[in-house]
Amino acid sequence: MTRTLAPDDAGIAEAARLLAAGELVAFPTETVYGLGGDARDDRAVARIYEAKGRPSFNPLIVHLPDLAAVERIAEVGPKARILAQAFWPGPLTLVLPLRAGAGISPLVTAGLDTVAVRIPAHPLAQRLLQAFGGPLAAPSANPSGRVSPTRAGHVLEGLSGRIAAVLDGGACAVGLESTIVLADPDPVLLRPGGVPVEVLEAALGAPLATGGDAGKPTSPGQLASHYAPEAAIRLEALEARSGEVLVGFGPVRGRLSLSESGDLVEAAARLFQMLREADRLAGPGGRIAFAPVPDTGLGRAINDRLRRAAAPRG
Ligand code: TXA
Ligand code: MG
Repeated sequence: MTRTLAPDDAGIAEAARLLAAGELVAFPTETVYGLGGDARDDRAVARIYEAKGRPSFNPLIVHLPDLAAVERIAEVGPKARILAQAFWPGPLTLVLPLRAGAGISPLVTAGLDTVAVRIPAHPLAQRLLQAFGGPLAAPSANPSGRVSPTRAGHVLEGLSGRIAAVLDGGACAVGLESTIVLADPDPVLLRPGGVPVEVLEAALGAPLATGGDAGKPTSPGQLASHYAPEAAIRLEALEARSGEVLVGFGPVRGRLSLSESGDLVEAAARLFQMLREADRLAGPGGRIAFAPVPDTGLGRAINDRLRRAAAPRG
């Protein structure tokens, strides 16, 4: 069911066509194979999480062809610019402030106001990005919790039948993921990877602090940067209590709905938008109730996010 596309003009054109239609295509980068989807398309991004079976919405890396394309969606600060000039295209990911109106799906950033971006060096990734002409969200193309794929065959072992196609570019040269750095105001290493820390420090002329994995926030400071509604949130609600804005799902009808047809892909695609919309409708001191969402497939990631939104904050 998952097609293998040859690394030629026809294969790249077909991959770009599938991506433009909202399908998922795995493609080679110099680090590992990425599971690509249109970063502007909520449903395509929801399907990435679904295909990987991720139990939570960790933010994804956006792949772009050049610095001009990066600057259209994010702000490149002074230290980010030094690193971009030294290491792009290449196995480095920079976490940058997201521009307002950038058009990136909030599912890509998991509701953060920053975005992780990378310009891959692999010629096929470059040609695909040019042909597609837009930002590609791409985590490693493996089921959640399994090792990252460095050959098209590895991608098929884990994801065959779950994605439209894989563009076969042979083996990846680096074989481990990109290094992730939050560059400005003070550079912090978020994930070690393809560019060694010493090499980054040499380019910056200063030592690099080491942070946690901001994609899996552990400290309250990191959590606070996730979009947290002002309103108090009640889960597993079957009807609205007085003064509550109910966000329904399937048969539970509310003022809003994650998906009236009970479709988990649609619910995931709309989740962050519904959190904001319900918060706005609830107003200051307001309350939001969410209908139950089944805890299977994408529902696990949706429930993980809702539980965090509902958790008491300090
Ligand atoms: O080499 C790679 O980077 C591969 C290839 C395919 O490019 N991609 C990859 O993507 O490893 P992914 O989605 O698995 O990496 C996502 C990680 C998150 O777990 C998180 O650590 C970090 O990127 N990340 C993404 N957005 C972030 C943000 N806004 N702030 C902090 N960290 C972020
Ligand atoms: Mg991964």
